[in-house]
Amino acid sequence: MHILSFIILFTCILVPFPKISVANDSINLPQSMRDGDTLVSKTRKFELGFFSPGSSQKRYLGIWYKNIPIRTVVWVANRENPINDSSGILTLNTTGNLVLTQNKSLVWYTNNSHKQAQNPVAVLLDSGNLVIRNDGETNPEAYLWQSFDYPSDTLLPGMKLGWDLRTGLDRRLTAWKSPDDPSPGDVYRDLELYSYPEFYIMKGTKKVYRFGPWNGLYFSGVPDLRNNTIFGFNFFSNKEESYYIFSPTNDLVMSRIVMNESTTIYRYVWVEDDQNWRIYTSLPKDFCDTYGLCGVYGNCMTSQTQVCQCLKGFSPKSPEAWVSSGWSQGCVRNKPLSCKDKLTDGFVKYEGLKVPDTRHTWLDESIGLEECKVICLNNCSCMAYTNSDIRGAGSGCVMWFGDLIDIKQLQTAGQDLYIRMPASELESVYRHKKKTTTIAASTTAAICGVLLLSSYFICRIRRNNAGKSLTEYDSEKDMDDLDIQLFDLPTITTATNDFSMENKIGEGGFGPVYKGILVDGQEIAVKTLSRSSWQGVTEFINEVKLIAKLQHRNLVKLLGCCIQGQEKMLIYEYMANGSLDSFIFDDKKRKLLKWPQQFHIICGIARGLMYLHQDSRLRIIHRDLKASNVLLDENSSPKISDFGMARTFGGDQFEGNTSRVVGTCGYMAPEYAVDGSFSVKSDVFSFGILVLEIVCGKRNKGLYQTDKSLNLVGHAWTLWKEGRALDLIDDSNMKESCVISEVLRCIHVGLLCVQQYPEDRPTMASVILMLESHMELVEPKEHGFISRNFLGEGDLRSNRKDTSSSNDVTITLLEAR
Ligand SMILES: *[C@@H]1O[C@H](CO)[C@@H](O)[C@H](O)[C@H]1NC(C)=O
Ligand SMILES: *[C@@H]1O[C@H](CO)[C@@H](O)[C@H](O)[C@H]1NC(C)=O
Ligand SMILES: *[C@@H]1O[C@H](CO)[C@@H](O)[C@H](O)[C@H]1NC(C)=O
Ligand SMILES: *[C@@H]1O[C@H](CO)[C@@H](O)[C@H](O)[C@H]1NC(C)=O
Ligand SMILES: *[C@@H]1O[C@H](CO)[C@@H](O)[C@H](O)[C@H]1NC(C)=O
Ligand SMILES: *[C@@H]1O[C@H](CO)[C@@H](O)[C@H](O)[C@H]1NC(C)=O
Ligand SMILES: *[C@@H]1O[C@H](CO)[C@@H](O)[C@H](O)[C@H]1NC(C)=O
Ligand SMILES: *[C@@H]1O[C@H](CO)[C@@H](O)[C@H](O)[C@H]1NC(C)=O
Ligand SMILES: *[C@@H]1O[C@H](CO)[C@@H](O)[C@H](O)[C@H]1NC(C)=O
Ligand SMILES: *[C@@H]1O[C@H](CO)[C@@H](O)[C@H](O)[C@H]1NC(C)=O
Repeated sequence: MHILSFIILFTCILVPFPKISVANDSINLPQSMRDGDTLVSKTRKFELGFFSPGSSQKRYLGIWYKNIPIRTVVWVANRENPINDSSGILTLNTTGNLVLTQNKSLVWYTNNSHKQAQNPVAVLLDSGNLVIRNDGETNPEAYLWQSFDYPSDTLLPGMKLGWDLRTGLDRRLTAWKSPDDPSPGDVYRDLELYSYPEFYIMKGTKKVYRFGPWNGLYFSGVPDLRNNTIFGFNFFSNKEESYYIFSPTNDLVMSRIVMNESTTIYRYVWVEDDQNWRIYTSLPKDFCDTYGLCGVYGNCMTSQTQVCQCLKGFSPKSPEAWVSSGWSQGCVRNKPLSCKDKLTDGFVKYEGLKVPDTRHTWLDESIGLEECKVICLNNCSCMAYTNSDIRGAGSGCVMWFGDLIDIKQLQTAGQDLYIRMPASELESVYRHKKKTTTIAASTTAAICGVLLLSSYFICRIRRNNAGKSLTEYDSEKDMDDLDIQLFDLPTITTATNDFSMENKIGEGGFGPVYKGILVDGQEIAVKTLSRSSWQGVTEFINEVKLIAKLQHRNLVKLLGCCIQGQEKMLIYEYMANGSLDSFIFDDKKRKLLKWPQQFHIICGIARGLMYLHQDSRLRIIHRDLKASNVLLDENSSPKISDFGMARTFGGDQFEGNTSRVVGTCGYMAPEYAVDGSFSVKSDVFSFGILVLEIVCGKRNKGLYQTDKSLNLVGHAWTLWKEGRALDLIDDSNMKESCVISEVLRCIHVGLLCVQQYPEDRPTMASVILMLESHMELVEPKEHGFISRNFLGEGDLRSNRKDTSSSNDVTITLLEAR
């Protein structure tokens, strides 16, 4: 009996995981694989087999994604040596090598000669890595061979791009010649092992694009690609290895980086809703990324009409050519350096740059900026210096020798660079510089005001912090020993001062909410569930235990429950800053929440909801997401509350159709309000409304609002269609602190979430991707917000008494039709 129920429970929990497959993921010793056979990795993520690319008839051995409908090849073995028919055979031989033959003639083989093979086996791993290893060996260092060491045009998560200096192995991405021909073209991405190493896109021997060296957080020229909630990036460099690596913070994100023959690097993510790959970023980004465009000592500025400008203290070498965009000769100093007399040289600090080409550099990670300056000053060929690592206050020292080339002025972020200048120039440069910074600032910040740059920064940093949490909760959610506390009624009565009116802090969907203080001083929130009757005590406790296991930084923590007769109460941690609605709809308090915090809140709610929908072991549909159900902790981080209510109350009616519609006017998806049919997509709808409310600072009035123009969704939709989405931004405080592109993105995502048909709405996982990236978004279709006419007044009359006073009270519609 016990075992049986255990099994049932276990099966329920495991439902989302794929079934154990019977396909082979490995080739053992006497075996071989023919054209038509495939290896499939353990959880069916990748497949190895023979394929013909594009319109080609030729056969190649390659690896592609198994679990997506679009054939996407990530690795090719015999790139240069295709097989002309389907007679290819892949064999593992006793020395631990894979050999691809056609009619006994050698087509391709692996190169393991230095490691001793003992009972070798070739396995396709779930990472997309084909490895040859001795049976039972799990240490990657001991692999006899791995395909990750020989990338084609694709970089997968966990793959190292760069050098193994011990063996001289250079892992680089080489573009296919064409979509029909995987043979290596002359376009590749490679890591140059300069003293301060950096990546280039090369075409033949010509540098096409430079990423900029890694500065501890990102490649100097690509500040966008730093740790966020979707990806972690890292670069390692020491005597043994020097490589770049990236990985999604979440298993649900599928992503790959591809070197294309058009000299562009694309980073794709798989969007489940579209069943397609979307471009997350592409590099080079703009005109100024063209290698060496402005010549030596030229600074490339996309924001200016004159794209190339000489650094201050320099003038075009050929002024005639310069005016007609002939920048390649670069710039020369106005006054020569007076190097012999050391004391008269100095440095000018430039900010927000992609630092110059590091070919002639010298790096010392152990010294700081001051020492760096002294060393640079004492060497006449040292032209510039800066910190090699910008994390925290900055550390390390890198110096440039000889002419500086390929400098770019970045719009956001960017690094400081100290450039050598004769003393006679220093003063005039500083006078000059002040003027230009002011001009630059006033143009970039035209809409958002002068705070744009700094708030962008804050937002970025906050996103980073949030990013870490995504991985943290994974370990938490498996805590099985977590048990909930059963409180007795006297404890709660004492804590809440006998449920006194002073202690009442709100009205939840199922009864009043009280603040309480336990004897040990802990503050709690007590949610009474007086109307609950369709669950027995044991079921209720079991349910609460399950809910208590949901642990996420964006969910309010359930501490326990209290049961006394028909009265049931849930005990939560107390949130000092109250609910979100008290901030966003209040003119005074709203000013306390600047845009970076608002964005942080939107992202946090999205993550909490995604956890409920797909990351937790129980799939929870909230059914009543709204501003008053989002609480703010002391750091203004959002926490969703009431998330288990649908479950504790719905009982058998947890998913599907219900005749008992629980929800709040203004937040309910049409299919739910009208048909009582609900799904994760009805939560997505509520989320969309909430996003629009946060951005606009207005309630979505909805059902009781006769004036249609005050219906927020309709208003937002109209302005969006007219191209006036910016008018939606609540101007009281946002315009000075917002990042326009982020606000517009939020409105766009909000509108996608409130589309009429549930299947058009994105999942929360997609919402997070869309919020966090720069990927292109589809145009939203007509929203599905129901007006009062649509629902019909009569249905609501019975509830009207207790709901008309406020739009924000949870209503219960019985037999909504
Ligand atoms: C897996 O490999 C073994 C050994 O060659 C073979 O007997 C078996 O049929 C293979 N299974 C599948 C599903 O191909
Ligand atoms: C395929 O290639 C093999 C060896 O290169 C050759 O012997 C054979 O004739 C070719 N077959 C066709 C159909 O071209
Ligand atoms: C196994 O394959 C490698 C690579 O082709 C070759 O050098 C080696 O001689 C082969 N060993 C045996 C025993 O066939
Ligand atoms: C395979 O090779 C043998 C001898 O080298 C030759 O006779 C035969 O025609 C070849 N078969 C194919 C299909 O190329
Ligand atoms: C095998 O190694 C040699 C030199 O070490 C290299 O030139 C060759 O490309 C390698 N072959 C493969 C299939 O990796
Ligand atoms: C390179 O990119 C272009 C444009 O996006 C695309 O049409 C082409 O298929 C890509 N080439 C390869 C080999 O993927
Ligand atoms: C970025 O994330 C990676 C893991 O994905 C981590 O190793 C690295 O330390 C993080 N970098 C920073 C600057 O936080
Ligand atoms: C300046 O630095 C360069 C590069 O490190 C070095 O080769 C040269 O000897 C140094 N010159 C002096 C005078 O120290
Ligand atoms: C939240 O509460 C903390 C501590 O009570 C307070 O310092 C902070 O200002 C509050 N935040 C907001 C946005 O009111
Ligand atoms: C819900 O009801 C609709 C129509 O009333 C029906 O088409 C649908 O199949 C039902 N769904 C479930 C899960 O019962």
